[in-house]
Amino acid sequence: MTIKEALGWASEQLQSICERPLFEAELLLAYHLHKERIYLHAHEHDKVDSIDTFKALIARRSSHEPYEYIVGKASFYDIELFVKQGVLIPRPETELLIDEVAHILEKEKISSIAEIGVGSGAISIVLARKFPSLKIIATDISLEAIAIAKQNIEAFGLSDQITLVHTNLLDGIEVQVGLIVSNPPYIASNAPLESNVKDYEPHTALFGGERGDELLQQIITQAKQKGASYLACEMGYDQKASMELFLTQSGVQYTRFYDDLAGLNRGFITKF
Ligand SMILES: C[S@@+](CC[C@H](N)C(=O)[O-])C[C@H]1O[C@@H](n2cnc3c(N)ncnc32)[C@H](O)[C@@H]1O
Repeated sequence: MTIKEALGWASEQLQSICERPLFEAELLLAYHLHKERIYLHAHEHDKVDSIDTFKALIARRSSHEPYEYIVGKASFYDIELFVKQGVLIPRPETELLIDEVAHILEKEKISSIAEIGVGSGAISIVLARKFPSLKIIATDISLEAIAIAKQNIEAFGLSDQITLVHTNLLDGIEVQVGLIVSNPPYIASNAPLESNVKDYEPHTALFGGERGDELLQQIITQAKQKGASYLACEMGYDQKASMELFLTQSGVQYTRFYDDLAGLNRGFITKF
């Protein structure tokens, strides 16, 4: 099979499961051949080596496995992270949370923070790269996530800046920090999700409780107890009212909600 034929075949296989079948077919063929996408167009009559291996990649994608797990990497902010099944694939909307936090760190000259639910390390790694003297304690309840975050943190040479702790929320962490950041699981347990999410991504990274905002509430309560000045969290598009109420009842000084690029409520920054 030539490159052109392989792309035609693969995009047909992917037709019903993704929005851009030809684009994804190109990405996977480029990955298979260890080439850039542009190479495919200049060599469309070349024969594809090990076509069965390529077909197996397409079969995985046809079964809704996310592209990022197949190739073992995800683009996030200005970096590429190692990911595999067992850790959430970082989402573009979380980049907004980083910008919100960066703004406060700069303004308030905060030198130490904590992250709850580090996952692949996406948030902590980008912040550590932006602020080379920032110290971060990053926790996760999932040992698999901690192992993947460790791999990414080491790959970026940030082990001196980011300390990983396997724990629930910030349990057992006594170090005082200026800000706590979290992109916690916040989806309601009965929410309908697409197969690529529900059947592949870890449920501990997705579901925040029956309503969805239960873990967010625990984070607010714990952040207050720990004496942090600020808490910055991502949340679900439909959780602004319940968060606003809970934050007010928790006696915070003020809260500012921010939207994502689609104009949906996506998170908040609160000051205790
Ligand atoms: C939505 S993912 C976010 C991962 C990463 N920070 C990101 O933005 O891509 C939520 C993470 O929180 C972790 N988590 C869930 N419950 C937790 C808890 N009670 N304490 C600490 N981490 C928790 C999950 O294992 C998962 O890695």
